[in-house]
Amino acid sequence: MTQDEMKKAAGWAALEYVQPGSIVGVGTGSTVNHFIDALATKKDEIKGAVSSSEASTERLKELGIEIFDANEVSSLDVYVDGADEINATFDMIKGGGAALTREKIVAAISKSFICIVDNTKEVDVLGKFPLPVEVIPMARSYVARELVKLGGDPVYREGVVTDNGNIILDVHNMQITDAKALETQINAIVGVVTNGLFADRGADVLLIGAPDGVIKKSK
Ligand code: A5P
Repeated sequence: MTQDEMKKAAGWAALEYVQPGSIVGVGTGSTVNHFIDALATKKDEIKGAVSSSEASTERLKELGIEIFDANEVSSLDVYVDGADEINATFDMIKGGGAALTREKIVAAISKSFICIVDNTKEVDVLGKFPLPVEVIPMARSYVARELVKLGGDPVYREGVVTDNGNIILDVHNMQITDAKALETQINAIVGVVTNGLFADRGADVLLIGAPDGVIKKSK
């Protein structure tokens, strides 16, 4: 099985969490793209979706799924999204696709976070994947210096502007043992919009695409 086939298996497995008549929270990335394809097969049974990026919105619309603004809904039952890394306690690094802030907002208004990944994303310690931080452009150098003080090695993601008009710093060489504390610490730096640690609001269900099928883990 290729990595993409494992992503596809996880994406389609998330369909069982979608309730008829609901508005579904939809993440961003290549794994979620498979989920969106699956969701399109149920488009007449759901009300629509709240999307976490312009890219997902475009794909959802192309497939005929109605988009709702996050401000129009008080809460969502389910948010389905991928991850760049996930550990045993379901803390994640996200933001490889630069959509971390909107992903965090949709996750925050959702009762349940269904994380869909292929089996390369499970790790013992978070941090091998560089931690994305969305930053107001004016604060780029200041935030980078503060991130160095925290022991990281921030690298400006050249040529990337987020859906919110900001820039991304990818922080290399972090061994993240207390994800919740670091998430709070980085978010407290002036000029940071948010960082890609999803620990304060981690995943509830993990669907892992693996060569022998989809492995399901719950908190
Ligand atoms: C997007 O900003 C990310 O948070 C994605 O969820 C993450 O990068 C996983 O992407 P893939 O499904 O493409 O691996």
